[in-house]
Amino acid sequence: MALPSIQELYDLSGKTALVTGGAMGIGAGIVKRLAEAGANVVVADLDLASAERTVQEVNSNGGGRALAAQADASNPDDVARVTQLAVDTFGSLDILVNNAGIFPPAPFLEADTNMVRKVLDVNVMGVYLHSQAAARQMVKQGNGGRIIHIASIDGFRPSGNLVHYDASKGAVIMMTKAMALELAEHGITVNAVAPGAVATPGTGMGGGETAPEELKAQVQGIQNAIPMRRWGHPDDIANAVLYLASAGTTYVTGEVIVVDGGWLLK
Ligand SMILES: NC(=O)c1ccc[n+]([C@@H]2O[C@H](COP(=O)([O-])OP(=O)(O)OC[C@H]3O[C@@H](n4cnc5c(N)ncnc54)[C@H](O)[C@@H]3O)[C@@H](O)[C@H]2O)c1
Repeated sequence: MALPSIQELYDLSGKTALVTGGAMGIGAGIVKRLAEAGANVVVADLDLASAERTVQEVNSNGGGRALAAQADASNPDDVARVTQLAVDTFGSLDILVNNAGIFPPAPFLEADTNMVRKVLDVNVMGVYLHSQAAARQMVKQGNGGRIIHIASIDGFRPSGNLVHYDASKGAVIMMTKAMALELAEHGITVNAVAPGAVATPGTGMGGGETAPEELKAQVQGIQNAIPMRRWGHPDDIANAVLYLASAGTTYVTGEVIVVDGGWLLK
């Protein structure tokens, strides 16, 4: 059997990817790497203006094309619409990255029920709905596919004031395995990446440079706890996603790659 070259393994030309929450943070990092590898990418996000900025950057860099779409990952109509948009615009849907997620902290004894439902709706139902819509399309296409969830190390170990979030990411990890089992016969792999602390707008660290003054002590405390002594960059996560989206992982499914600078080891 002739083995593919390294270039061929990571060449996503002709593939179409859909990245939820792809406007900023980890999602934007993923969009950029997938497009650089040649994939056409639909950037689905609540925040259309930010999604359009990311798309503009991608489209001025060569590689695959990107397209922005306003969509709520927890809304079934939006999920159906952006899935169809990917197929209508680029001809197929081959890679889904379920990245959209929210993580408002709240102590368990004080957590508001509506907030808890919202977190479960976006982080769990969003992943379920998008995966189901994408998998149906991939089965119809008959060429297999890649579904990649962004979980969290909080799915393995609680970090405090995040019972709702930790539950949602535990669910994402089990959905990774359960979906992988059912979709294997269709050549669709389902894997997850579990980030540790990553500098993003959501963690209050903007593009990853300097944190606002009031967050500095907390940011430093987390940094000191991480064996590699630094926060992750969105590209640390994007490179793991690229690996899972590539032809280098044809036989890997139901797995979770932890990308956390060694934090879970402690
Ligand atoms: N940053 C971290 O330290 C970290 C650690 C572990 C896991 N994660 C996970 O990584 C993912 C991305 O995190 P981030 O830090 O980049 O977040 P972020 O808040 O910086 O960006 C999230 C993006 O998702 C979009 N979004 C939010 N709700 C949405 C919805 N309902 N539908 C569509 N888009 C929506 C936002 O508009 C934004 O563009 C999340 O699933 C998060 O749980 C992040």
